[in-house]
Amino acid sequence: MPKYRNSLNNDYDDRDPLISRRSFLAMMGVGACLLGAGTLTGASLLGFLYPNAMKTPPSIFSLGRPEEVLAHEGKIFKPKQKVFVESKEGKVRVQTAVCTHLGCTVNMVDTGYACPCHGSTYDQYGRNTGGPAPLPLVFFTVFKGASGDIMVDKSKTLLDWNAAWYAPSA
Ligand code: FES
Repeated sequence: MPKYRNSLNNDYDDRDPLISRRSFLAMMGVGACLLGAGTLTGASLLGFLYPNAMKTPPSIFSLGRPEEVLAHEGKIFKPKQKVFVESKEGKVRVQTAVCTHLGCTVNMVDTGYACPCHGSTYDQYGRNTGGPAPLPLVFFTVFKGASGDIMVDKSKTLLDWNAAWYAPSA
């Protein structure tokens, strides 16, 4: 006569004292789910405990010695800080490379800048000219640090591209 474990047809006199395979697998499944949830929760908490300052680059950073920065005329991209550094006639200015739509990094193109994510375009000064970008690309304040390096402060922004030039010798 077959056994009907975990059913109403169970014969109480014939019950197996050991746990059934189905119950064992169910408990293992619940245990695996709890372990996974615990791991995710723990990882999230560790993420909050880890200092955020370690993840984001500082808002003030050095471009280097004035003679090095001004040695090359033209515009270069600094990927770590996501900025464009432009040097011309002994002056330097720094502009963000972060798209004002959703934060992708824009590329230099013949007409100015273009964002590869959703097609926003900017003119050579960073003014938004097309696509979903709501604002222009700002410039950052440039100054000479105590060490003599040319420094950039990303917390101080400018929209006037003429006022954004900094002449280290002045
Ligand atoms: S992030 Fe640049 S267009 Fe959307």
